[in-house]
Amino acid sequence: MAVTLTINGQSIQAALGRSVFDCAEDLSIDVPTSCRKQGKCKECIVEVVDGMDALTGPSEPERHLSGSFRLSCQARIAMEEGHIRCHTMRRGHMRIERHAIGLPIGNRPLKLDPAVTRDADRILIDGVEVERSTGPIHGIAVDLGTTTVVLRLVDLESGELIADTSFENPQRFGGSDVMSRIAYDTDHPGRLLMRTLAGYMSRAIQEFPVDPKSIYEMVVVGNSTMRDLFFRQSVYSIGQNPYQSITEIEMAEGKRATTSLEQSGLRSLLPIHPKARVYGAPVISGHVGGDAAACMLAVDLAHEERLVAIMDIGTNTELIVGNKDRILAASCPAGPAFEGGAISCGMPALDGAIETVAIHEDGSFQLGVIGDAPPEGICGSGLVDALSELLRTERMNDMGRFEDGMQRITLYRGNVPDEDVFLLESDVNELAQAKGANVAGLHVAFSNFGIDFNDIEVFYLAGGFGRHLNVEASKRIGLVPSLASSKIRQVGNTAIEGATIALLSKSKRQELEELVRHVQHCRLETHPNFFDFFVEGCQFKPVEPIACAT
Ligand code: FES
Repeated sequence: MAVTLTINGQSIQAALGRSVFDCAEDLSIDVPTSCRKQGKCKECIVEVVDGMDALTGPSEPERHLSGSFRLSCQARIAMEEGHIRCHTMRRGHMRIERHAIGLPIGNRPLKLDPAVTRDADRILIDGVEVERSTGPIHGIAVDLGTTTVVLRLVDLESGELIADTSFENPQRFGGSDVMSRIAYDTDHPGRLLMRTLAGYMSRAIQEFPVDPKSIYEMVVVGNSTMRDLFFRQSVYSIGQNPYQSITEIEMAEGKRATTSLEQSGLRSLLPIHPKARVYGAPVISGHVGGDAAACMLAVDLAHEERLVAIMDIGTNTELIVGNKDRILAASCPAGPAFEGGAISCGMPALDGAIETVAIHEDGSFQLGVIGDAPPEGICGSGLVDALSELLRTERMNDMGRFEDGMQRITLYRGNVPDEDVFLLESDVNELAQAKGANVAGLHVAFSNFGIDFNDIEVFYLAGGFGRHLNVEASKRIGLVPSLASSKIRQVGNTAIEGATIALLSKSKRQELEELVRHVQHCRLETHPNFFDFFVEGCQFKPVEPIACAT
């Protein structure tokens, strides 16, 4: 007799006493490790979705983990029969794409002007020699998201994009949103969040098709919490009213001239050149980070005459409104629901995720799955489609209630019930609240700027999630405003684009530093109508302009 252990959708019969890690190896599943199963590196995390009881209890090296997270080298089969389902932190496929980057999104071509230069065999950062080599010069742009981390490798001399990769932020074991990560970091000494992330980033860098020591600069963008955890700053103050990062506090006290951060490759614990510079883009305020600043750079906001809005929907949704004369930015703590987090069958937009949903007249579902694999879960764009279709076919009302008092709608039936992909009414409730926060953010930001939705000339839907959204479905459920579709532009991950621009151009990096100083931060929770907007936004119906009132 044996337990059926399903890891990342693949199953194996696992005998008593075997570790989850050993079973994953039998299935040829790559589990991150740098300690050879000694319980030291803390990288071999798995999330146990079902069957935790059939595993041994947590061991000493797992003291830092709680809930459904385990170290796979420590968790062993403790029963003779049963079913365990778990997955490793998920990874996107590395893409090797050798082409020059035609940035920014605006019409101006980017002039290459990197901080790392070559003078014969001398490699210099801002004119200071860091190495003698005739080899290539590389840099990495990083978008450190609460849920997903994206790395992009570029040749700093040609501007050529060499490869990019993404993975689920392994810090999920410390909570799915920034506030829980702040609490985790404060309660657990030892910088466990930073070390675990550095382990995953190191693996990603080592898999790039270049010598890691040829990487001389990194530009990191992320919300203030993600950035500051990576740069070993205390994040405690970001979690306390008035929600400011240490760098903002120090800048206000005149102790620093910018909120950007720098450290060496050595200190970052990454396998890049030890004297490499790791630059953390400046943050705008406690919860409006360098990723929002990078978005502005990517859409060339410093030179924009038109009135534009940028909405980067994520665990923390960034909202930016303005043009070259005035910019206002806000951040909505929407939570991870639209990135598949906190949803029963939610998952990131990786292979096996349902990304499109249509309901036929006979009530059957037509599902589009990333990678044409059997469905394992549903990602954000699939959720938006599913909600829109349920609404259109009146199987769900605008309050998010299913017809006939049902609690669950099954989208896909697997071979065993454990493999079903479904939506619960409680999932819809999570999505309603995430949407409510986004909509409230939009109303407050527009209201504070003194405009309504119709004044906007271009509405950029940014972010990996925003790129794949069905715009009409998003308008139907009220995730994006009811604007003419010709005004809405899905521009993909502008944060990584902005980071890449700042990596390839010193002058653009300077522009980013200056842009941040001029942004007006809008604190959503201080608006007198915030709660009303939130409640209204929780309903699944189109978002119409409201009269401006500051
Ligand atoms: S493999 Fe290093 S802690 Fe499990």
